[in-house]
Amino acid sequence: MEMDSEVAADITVKRELSQFATEFEPVLRGMLPREEHPRTDLVEAMSYATVGGGKYLRPYIVRCSAEMFGVPPLSSMRAGSAVEAVHAYSLVHDDLPALDNDDLRRGRPTCHCAFGEATAILAGDGLLTLAFEILAHRETHASTATRLELIASLAHAAGASGMIGGQMIDLDCENRTVDFTTAGILARKKTGALFSFATSAGAILGRASELERQALSEFGSDMGLAFQIVDDILDVEGNERLIGKRAGKDADAGKATFVSILGLEKAKSELDRTVRQAVGHLEPFDCRADSLRSIVEFIASRDR
Ligand code: IPE
Ligand code: IPE
Ligand code: MG
Ligand code: MG
Ligand code: MG
Repeated sequence: MEMDSEVAADITVKRELSQFATEFEPVLRGMLPREEHPRTDLVEAMSYATVGGGKYLRPYIVRCSAEMFGVPPLSSMRAGSAVEAVHAYSLVHDDLPALDNDDLRRGRPTCHCAFGEATAILAGDGLLTLAFEILAHRETHASTATRLELIASLAHAAGASGMIGGQMIDLDCENRTVDFTTAGILARKKTGALFSFATSAGAILGRASELERQALSEFGSDMGLAFQIVDDILDVEGNERLIGKRAGKDADAGKATFVSILGLEKAKSELDRTVRQAVGHLEPFDCRADSLRSIVEFIASRDR
């Protein structure tokens, strides 16, 4: 029996992502601080929020984009650890009572429920700053200029023009009538910016041309947008046990999501359109970008 090519790509990405996770997790764990003080809550909370249970999709994307330019795995694993640290921090703070007020993440209590709010805030701060310590280290890349480019790119993606800016718009839009354009800006900032860093990191490490960097950056933004559309859909249609977080929270909180604005069916068409647009940016790379193409297909059909 012939297998549908999308289904085949999906199975391959699932297998490769889980193989990647077994390699990546020890590296990530090794980057976390060790206990230095009798009060170890901070270090424990940082580890709790970072290791175990996440999909490690962003570092996997860094690895795939880096492989296109022959970048050694040590460099891409370190850049991947940096973006995963920022992502983990963003989730810890996103779940806080002042933001989304969630009690379940990755199938277990959120960081502030397990360690208390003050420790969770500090653990998030510790993870954010750790990311830049990782990138600044010589082992990330021999060239100081390249390391500086990575640092500037992640800072831009994580900060007020990127993820944090998106989180602010997300809060501003609660319980308000929001148009489709604003929803796109919101999602590209809060989620797309870190995906765009992940796809760009390989190009930066591999000294790719400006055109290649631009194409990968735009691809990452579209992929992140697709990822957030699916996140919004899973909040409505997803299985709580699989997604590891409470379902139905977005409507309760009056969030502006693609489902609240477009309805489920149109949100799904928008997802298809976004995936096609994302893949279009990969044309200049031919089969070198096949792993990135498979990741977008995987994202569109994910159930967790
Ligand atoms: C969740 O991201 C936050 C969003 C951007 C929607 P992931 O679904 O990648 O979270 P983990 O790391 O796998 O738990
Ligand atoms: C959060 O979006 C994106 C971040 C920057 C953390 P959501 O608030 O929808 O993510 P979940 O659903 O809590 O994972
Ligand atoms: Mg949120
Ligand atoms: Mg949330
Ligand atoms: Mg969500």
